[in-house]
Amino acid sequence: MNGRDLVRSVKAVGSVGAAQGVRTVRAAWRRRRADATGLPSRGAERARVPGPVQEVEPGPGGGVVRFGRSELRVLVAVNGAVFWGWDGAEPEPSYALAGRCPEPDPRAVLEPDKDGGWRVVAERATVVVSRHGAVEVRTPGGVTLRRDLPPRWWEPVGGGPARWAQRSEVAADARFFGLGGRASGPRLPDGTYRLWNTDPGHAFAPGDDPLYITMPVQLVVADGGTHLVFHDSSWDGTVTLREGEEGAGSGHDRAGTSELRMDGGPLRCWVMVGSPARVLLTWASLTGAPALPPAWALGHHHARWGFGSEQEVRRIVAGYLEHGLPLDAVHLDIDHFDAHQVFTVDPDRFPKLPVLAEELRRDGIRLVSIVDPAVKALPGNAVYDDGVAEDAFVRDASGQVVQGVAWPGEAVFPDFTHARVREWWGRLYEERLAQGFSGFWHDMNEPTSFNAFGETTLPRSARHSLEGRGGDHREAHNVYALCMARAGFEGLRNLSPQERPFLFSRSGWAGMQRYGGTWSGDVATGWPGLRASLSLVLGLGLCGVPYSGPDIGGFDGDPSPELYLRWFQLGAYLPLFRTHASLRAGRREPWEFGPEVLEHARVALVERRRLLPYFMTLAHLARRTGAPYVRPLWWAAPEERALRDCGDAFLLGDSLLVAPVLDPGADRRAVQLPRGRWYDTATEQAYEGPAQVLVDAPLSRIPVFARAGAVLPVRGEDGGLELEVWAPARGRTGGGLVVPDGGEGWDEPELERYTARWMSSRLVVEREGEDGGGTPPHPVRVRGAGES
Ligand code: GLC
Repeated sequence: MNGRDLVRSVKAVGSVGAAQGVRTVRAAWRRRRADATGLPSRGAERARVPGPVQEVEPGPGGGVVRFGRSELRVLVAVNGAVFWGWDGAEPEPSYALAGRCPEPDPRAVLEPDKDGGWRVVAERATVVVSRHGAVEVRTPGGVTLRRDLPPRWWEPVGGGPARWAQRSEVAADARFFGLGGRASGPRLPDGTYRLWNTDPGHAFAPGDDPLYITMPVQLVVADGGTHLVFHDSSWDGTVTLREGEEGAGSGHDRAGTSELRMDGGPLRCWVMVGSPARVLLTWASLTGAPALPPAWALGHHHARWGFGSEQEVRRIVAGYLEHGLPLDAVHLDIDHFDAHQVFTVDPDRFPKLPVLAEELRRDGIRLVSIVDPAVKALPGNAVYDDGVAEDAFVRDASGQVVQGVAWPGEAVFPDFTHARVREWWGRLYEERLAQGFSGFWHDMNEPTSFNAFGETTLPRSARHSLEGRGGDHREAHNVYALCMARAGFEGLRNLSPQERPFLFSRSGWAGMQRYGGTWSGDVATGWPGLRASLSLVLGLGLCGVPYSGPDIGGFDGDPSPELYLRWFQLGAYLPLFRTHASLRAGRREPWEFGPEVLEHARVALVERRRLLPYFMTLAHLARRTGAPYVRPLWWAAPEERALRDCGDAFLLGDSLLVAPVLDPGADRRAVQLPRGRWYDTATEQAYEGPAQVLVDAPLSRIPVFARAGAVLPVRGEDGGLELEVWAPARGRTGGGLVVPDGGEGWDEPELERYTARWMSSRLVVEREGEDGGGTPPHPVRVRGAGES
C-alpha cells in the first residue's frame, strides 16, 4: 500500500478520520520496530546442495535416499499421490492436509535405477531420483512430466530458517494454471508470482499480483499428461514461470521452467498425475472434500457496502419482488455493525434485525453477515474484553499484543492458529445466529492492517501458536484465513448442528474448500476486471476451491449498463452469483440500468433459478470428486492444444459450455468447441466440434451450449425437478447424473444416473438401477431432437 492508498483507506474508514492517519503511521512504525527487535537479521549465509548419493533405506511406499548433505524421503500414498521431502521433511504437520497423511502404498518400492540413481515405480507415476538429487516424475508410459533439479538452500551461518530454491522443467508444450486466485490467467503468462496473501489496497485488474489467495499449487497440462504439484510450505515466496518453446523443424525444444523460491519452511511437495478429473480427485482426497453449500446459497445474492438501514434493505428486497426478480440472499457489510465492530449491530439503523431476518426468510431470502477478524482494541467492547480474558490475540516477540489498524480503528487480531482461540471465535457466531443470519462472509483476513509503509498486514515477527509448535507471522500469514475459516465452520457446526454452514472467505490457502468458498475480492469495474473475475474462478477451481464468483458490476466504480449486464450474465453461470460494490460505487440493482438491462437481467436470474438443481448436483459432485463446477474447456481433453489457450469460455459441469461476452460492443463471438456435438441452447442449432464457431451473442443473452446426450436436472414450472435431455446424435448415447437435493442438512441424497439412447426414431431416457433400466421418476423434456 502506498501513501495514496493509505489516504484512501483512512478516508474509507470515514468516521475515524485524520486521527486515524496519525495512528496508522504510528502502527507502521511500531511494526518496523517490532520486526527489528523480533527478527534477528540473517547475516552471512552458506549455500548448500544435496551432494552425491550415499545410501538408501527402503521403507513403506518408497524410502529415504541419503546424499552427502541432505536426505530425501519419497513416499507414494494409497491415493496415488507422490510425496517427497528434503532434509527430513515429513508430510505432517500440514495445514493443507484434511487429516492424517494417507497410508503408504505397500506396492511402491525403492529400487536401483541406471547411472547410480534410484526409482520408485507406482501405479500412476514413476519417480526417478538421480545421483545428485534431481527428481523426475514420469507417466507409467515413461513420459517425463516434470524434472526438479537438485534444490539449493541458503542457511544463515548463525542459525535460523534456510531459504531455498527449487527449479523445475516441464515439457515445451506445457501450460501452467493455478497458484490460487490470479487475475491474469487462467493460463498463467510468463512472469513472477508471489506467494503472500495480499489485499492490494485498491480494486484490482489483470496486472495486479499477488491477491488475496495465493497457493503453491500448480496444475501443469502438457501433451504427455496432466499433473498437479503442491509445495507444502506456507512461507513467503515467489514462483517464476516460463513456458517452453517447441523447436521448429529439426530444432531443439526449450523446456518450460518453474522456479520456486521460498523464505523458509520445509522443502516438501506432493505430485498427482492423471487426467484432470483424476488429479482433482486425488487432490480432494488429500486436502479435503469441498463443503456443500446449502441450496439457497446457489441462488442469487445481493450485497452492498452501505445499505445504511433496515428500511433500505426492505426497499431493495421490495424492488426485487416488484420487478419479478428472484433473490435468495442479502448480505450486510460492515456498516451494519456498531462503529464497525465485528459481532455487533448498530442499534439505531438496524434496531430489529431478527424481525427483518424472519420477514425475509418468509419470502425465501436469507441474511448473510460479513465477519472481519480485527477486533476493536477498546476496553468495554465485549469481544475485546472476552478475547483479552482468553488470551486470544496475536502478540509480538516481546509479549505485547500487536495493535494494527482496521475498519474499527486500532485493532487486535485473534491467533487462529491456536485451537483454543478457534473455539472461542467459533462460539461468537451465536450472536450472529441470534440476529437471524444464515451465512457468513469472512473478509479482511489476509489479515489486513492499514499500515502506512511496507505491507498491509501484521509484522513478520508477530508470534503465533501454530498448533503449539510456535512460530511467527512469516509462517502463519498465508494460513491465517484458512484457520479463521476453520474456526467459523466448526463453530457453526456446533451451534447449529442440523444445518450445513455457509461461509466464504476473501483469503485462504490450500485446503480452504473444506470450510467453504471464496469470492474474487475487490475487482475493478471495467472490462479487464470482468475478464479477471473469470480467471480467478477457473484458477481457484483447479486448486480445489470450486465455489466462488465475482462482485458483479465490479467493486469500485460505475459500470456502463452494457458492462453490468455482461457481468451479470456471466455471474449467473458461476457458483457464487452475487452483486456487490463499494460504499463509493454506483448502484448495482438490476433496475438501476434502464428497462432493457432489467429485462435481460431478469432472463439471467430466471435461468439461474431454473438451473438450480443442476448447480446442486454440481455441488454434490464437487464434494464427492473434487471436480470444480466451472472447468476449463480442456477438462476432458487436455491434449487438445487449442483448448488449453482458451480462457474466455468454460464448461459448467459435463453438460454445458458457457461463452460469456467479455468485450464491449460485441454481439457475436467466436467459441472454441471441444469434440462432439454441441447445441446452442437458444436456437437449438447443432455444431460439431472440435471447431471454432461464430455465434450470435445479442445483448439479451450470452451463448450457452449443451452437450448432445446431456441429461440435465432443471426446475420445472411447478418448482419440481425435471430432466432436460439434449438429443444425442443418431447412433450415439448420452446420460447424466442427478443429486436431488433442495436442502440444508447433512443428508447425502442418492446419486441418480440416467441414460439416453435412440430406439429407432424414439429417444429413450432411463434411470439406471440394479435391476436394469427404469422410467425416470421426473418429467422428461427432450430438446435438440430436430437435428440428426
Ligand atoms: C473490503 C471487501 C469488500 C467490503 C469492504 C467493506 O474491501 O473486500 O467486499 O465491501 O471491505 O467491508
